[in-house]
Amino acid sequence: MVRVLFVCLGNICRSPTAEGVFRKLIQDQGYEADIEIDSAGTHAYHVGEPPDSRAQQTAHQRGIDISQLRGRKVLAGDANVFDYVLAMDHENYQNLLRIFPQHEHQKIGLFMQYANQRVEQEVPDPYFGGAGGFDRVLDMIEEASIGLLNNIKQRHKL
Ligand code: 4NP
Repeated sequence: MVRVLFVCLGNICRSPTAEGVFRKLIQDQGYEADIEIDSAGTHAYHVGEPPDSRAQQTAHQRGIDISQLRGRKVLAGDANVFDYVLAMDHENYQNLLRIFPQHEHQKIGLFMQYANQRVEQEVPDPYFGGAGGFDRVLDMIEEASIGLLNNIKQRHKL
């Protein structure tokens, strides 16, 4: 089993969207038995809350239901569980370096490194912007998800 954790700041916009998009992709391609996924935030502002309504709506427009997800904070123990811990931006990445022990740092990466056609390294925080920001976030997440799944399939011989 390969385990992937998506991480953003609040766990109500970007990382639950990534969890929903990536789950649909592995369902569509038949890898549900091989890959387990979760998401978390580096801050506790929105623990226990469902995803932001704009994130829910944008995902819903693409046939993805993230309404059942609930915010949680990243735990130091997540380092023992997950093989890939993928940050949406550099700030989350730096926070993960502080939360995880040094010998687990090689698991931490930037999610956008898996997007083929992108020069952007970060999925921008859409929380304080308009609805259009969520569409852009979804486009970026869909692209990185395809690259990530291809990477996992190759590396783990799935
Ligand atoms: P996320 O977006 O990190 O993509 O879930 C945010 C959600 C909430 C806040 C910031 C970003 N906030 O400041 O409450």
